[in-house]
Amino acid sequence: MAILKVSRMGHPVLRQRARDIPPEEITSPPLQRLVADMVETMVDYEGIGLAAPQVYQPLRLIVLGMPDVDPEEEAIPLTVLFNPEFTAMSDERVDGWEGCLSIPEIRGVVPRSAAVDVNGLNGEGQQVEFAAEGFFARVLQHEMDHLDGVLFLDRMEDFETLAYFEEYQRYWIEEEEEEEEEE
Ligand code: NI
Repeated sequence: MAILKVSRMGHPVLRQRARDIPPEEITSPPLQRLVADMVETMVDYEGIGLAAPQVYQPLRLIVLGMPDVDPEEEAIPLTVLFNPEFTAMSDERVDGWEGCLSIPEIRGVVPRSAAVDVNGLNGEGQQVEFAAEGFFARVLQHEMDHLDGVLFLDRMEDFETLAYFEEYQRYWIEEEEEEEEEE
């Protein structure tokens, strides 16, 4: 396995439509190695999702996952999806903070559907379909956007929250926590 270089905003690979992967190729050594390397890269960068274009591969493949450290928090199971598609998206929209390994040090509030139904092929090439809500649904939407050349900045409706990580921590997170304490 290997930790891969992550493409950054401005590289054309992040702005093109990634191509479908023939299902019979999923179990091939090169794609299995790519999946393992993407998971290792995501973990090393402390990311919670990674799309193949972010490692310079214009393919419809995403990995996501977050270890369940705190049962109070919404955990995301380790998920590998080839050729993922939404079969349903809730009309309810929720705002939430996002960042992206391809846009380092930047955070912003992005509206997303509160719940989605997704299908695709798993790491073994088997058809899977599942429902996701909350943070899991948000990360799926963020990663699947990468497959169509869309970045989270494109989805922001108000740039007032666009912030460097340090300022995000100093002025937005603390403020939100204080507001919560006051309630
Ligand atoms: Ni991203």
